[in-house]
Amino acid sequence: MLDTWLTRELGITVPLVGAPMVGRAGGALAGAVTRAGGIGLIGAARFHTAEWLEAEAQTAREIGGGLLGFGLMTWALADDATLLGTVLDLRPRVVSLSFGDPAPYVQRVHDAGALAISQINSIDDLRVVEAAGVDAVVAQGHEAGGHTGRVGTLPLLQEVLESTSLPVLAAGGIASGRGLAAVLAAGAEGAYVGTALLASPETVGPAYARQKLVDAGSGDTVYTDIFDKARHMPWPERWGGRALTNDFTANWHGRGVDEQTLADAYVADDPNVGVVYAGEAAGLVREQRPAGDVVRDIATQAEALLARFGKQ
Ligand SMILES: Cc1cc2nc3c(=O)[nH]c(=O)nc-3n(C[C@H](O)[C@H](O)[C@H](O)COP(=O)(O)O)c2cc1C
Repeated sequence: MLDTWLTRELGITVPLVGAPMVGRAGGALAGAVTRAGGIGLIGAARFHTAEWLEAEAQTAREIGGGLLGFGLMTWALADDATLLGTVLDLRPRVVSLSFGDPAPYVQRVHDAGALAISQINSIDDLRVVEAAGVDAVVAQGHEAGGHTGRVGTLPLLQEVLESTSLPVLAAGGIASGRGLAAVLAAGAEGAYVGTALLASPETVGPAYARQKLVDAGSGDTVYTDIFDKARHMPWPERWGGRALTNDFTANWHGRGVDEQTLADAYVADDPNVGVVYAGEAAGLVREQRPAGDVVRDIATQAEALLARFGKQ
């Protein structure tokens, strides 16, 4: 068994967090990851109703047992933090607060009995979340799917590990036991895994997204803000999102056109235009597979690889 701070803290058997992925990770995916020995997080956003979140939490618990976790986008709480209250009422064990300063929210998370974990993209971010009192940090690299920063996973992970006494997890490009073994060997306590789970039948989102990911290679992603602009999502400028390339990115990425032009050209349910957020690990996703199988394979392979060095 892979024994780390994360597994001990949560009483789980695999140091793997099913990444919170708004629009793709609901209760079925989160529950499947938890059932397989990790912990799956539900991606929560302001546009989700309390009823939706309650239903997804119930699904996650039915499938995965009692353990529950959510991921929220910190910058979006600044205008309205109602979502945090809704999530905490569901008694999660983990709340992931990423993309922004979590200081105003960490005490509430702790009072509710949950761990506060923040994804970070730079050493400056590390200092911000340390000051906020989070329980662990996740070094999230540029190759990650979805919104992320500009430094690659390995350089950032090494820098963060050398700069903090907090438990550190890694995110971005970890999609096999090789990836998990690598970051554990480096000193991480676990990994957030997103892209590797996105061809699983338990995901939510457009029907075309899973096969698009299976068909994509590791070079078929782009780091861009055009989908945020097209969908009028007010993301702070420093975070772009990594998505699969398609007709929309071919036509508009790097053109510097205004938000309305992008919005007028965007057709969400056109499979060649709609966004499929995914990371460079796309090349490692070769078939649509149940999330539990993906998690178990990653765990088994990581354990075998680390055993070679007598580490586990
Ligand atoms: C479709 C998608 C949606 C995401 N949504 C969120 C989110 O809502 N909140 C968050 O903190 N991270 C989000 N992320 C980032 C993940 O938490 C995680 O950092 C990333 O998936 C790890 O890299 P990987 O995709 O290479 O495994 C998202 C990623 C993807 C692929």
